[in-house]
Amino acid sequence: MSSKVTKLNTSSVQGSCEVSAASLSINELMTVIVTKLEMLEKQIDEKIKAMDDKVEKEISHIQEKLNMLGNQIDILNCPSCWQEFQGSCYYFSGNAKTWSKARDICITVNSFLIVIDSKQEQDFVVSKMTLPVWIGLSDEVEEGQWRWADGSPLGQSFWKPGEPNNFDTGEDCAILLKENNWNDFNCEGKFHFICEKTVNCAQPQERKQ
Ligand code: BGC
Ligand code: CA
Repeated sequence: MSSKVTKLNTSSVQGSCEVSAASLSINELMTVIVTKLEMLEKQIDEKIKAMDDKVEKEISHIQEKLNMLGNQIDILNCPSCWQEFQGSCYYFSGNAKTWSKARDICITVNSFLIVIDSKQEQDFVVSKMTLPVWIGLSDEVEEGQWRWADGSPLGQSFWKPGEPNNFDTGEDCAILLKENNWNDFNCEGKFHFICEKTVNCAQPQERKQ
């Protein structure tokens, strides 16, 4: 830059020439500066882009970790208002419904009308309930063939002595009594009910058949 300015000064005869030669050189200088600035701008843009990519990757990494933690929390806990016992979550209804209505309500919240597999499970729910409740047991499909609402056959049973008796016009649905045993009852009767789901939220059809 300095050599060019010196050369122009010594070789010029007229002032006007000097001005135009000098301004040409300034234009060139400007071009160099602008080019340089453009290069710098490009470098800065590239750096910002690289940083953006890094930050984006970091954010998605954190998001992934949060999802994993969320899943773990779901596995370990029951939803709010559900009570946990030995790997299952239980919902105690606040109102009375017919058996089929109760069964459908449980399905809408990704669960099934309670299936009682053991005395411990029954003792747990009896200790929490204040009124008789529908359980997911019925022989609606075939009289005398009691099946659970999740499709599994009846194993261990806890009928009250003398039950099931298919009383009067017929009783195809089962209730759990506060006395810690079962009675068959008319399915159109209205009782409170208990929904059950496994803690990892498996669907009813994923249970044993
Ligand atoms: C019977 C039950 C029956 C109920 C119906 C009772 O007296 O012992 O078996 O389910 O009546 O209301
Ligand atoms: Ca009965």
